[in-house]
Amino acid sequence: MVKLIIQTVPSEVLRSVAHPIARVDKNVAAFMEKLAEAMYEGNGIGLAANQVGSLSRVIAVDTSDERDGSKALLMANPEIIWTDPKDVFVYNEGCLSLPGHYAEVTRPKRIRMTYWDQHGKKQELEAEGLLSQCIQHELDHLNGVLFIDHLSRLKRNMILRKIEKERRERESGSLL
Ligand code: NI
Repeated sequence: MVKLIIQTVPSEVLRSVAHPIARVDKNVAAFMEKLAEAMYEGNGIGLAANQVGSLSRVIAVDTSDERDGSKALLMANPEIIWTDPKDVFVYNEGCLSLPGHYAEVTRPKRIRMTYWDQHGKKQELEAEGLLSQCIQHELDHLNGVLFIDHLSRLKRNMILRKIEKERRERESGSLL
């Protein structure tokens, strides 16, 4: 499999809804591993399939200190089955698809979820704090949602304008 390339805003695939995986076969398992590799390479704590141009419901997450792959969570068809929307957590989120941009996002602190692991086994997981925040961020990606969508329109537009300006500067730079 070729190396995965991380897509950035305004790539359309980031705004598309990913499709459920029918079953975790060898190809899907290999893709899950590749996704985790791309996450570590980009120094991210999570990465969703959309971000590498694939519309399959797969995410990779690692909020551990080790970051050596031993604690990587590779998930197909992740689904939140319980949360308490009144008990929230705020984290200064970033995203490999919006490099260099950060903003505080409020999300439910605790979630319970199900997913299929890389062996196709159904797993259940309870998460809170940073891990929960990160999983929710990646799940959003599978639904075409970005962290800036959780901000006020003013803050969101500020970031989008900066990205557009950076893009123009990069393009004029590449003409020289
Ligand atoms: Ni992201």
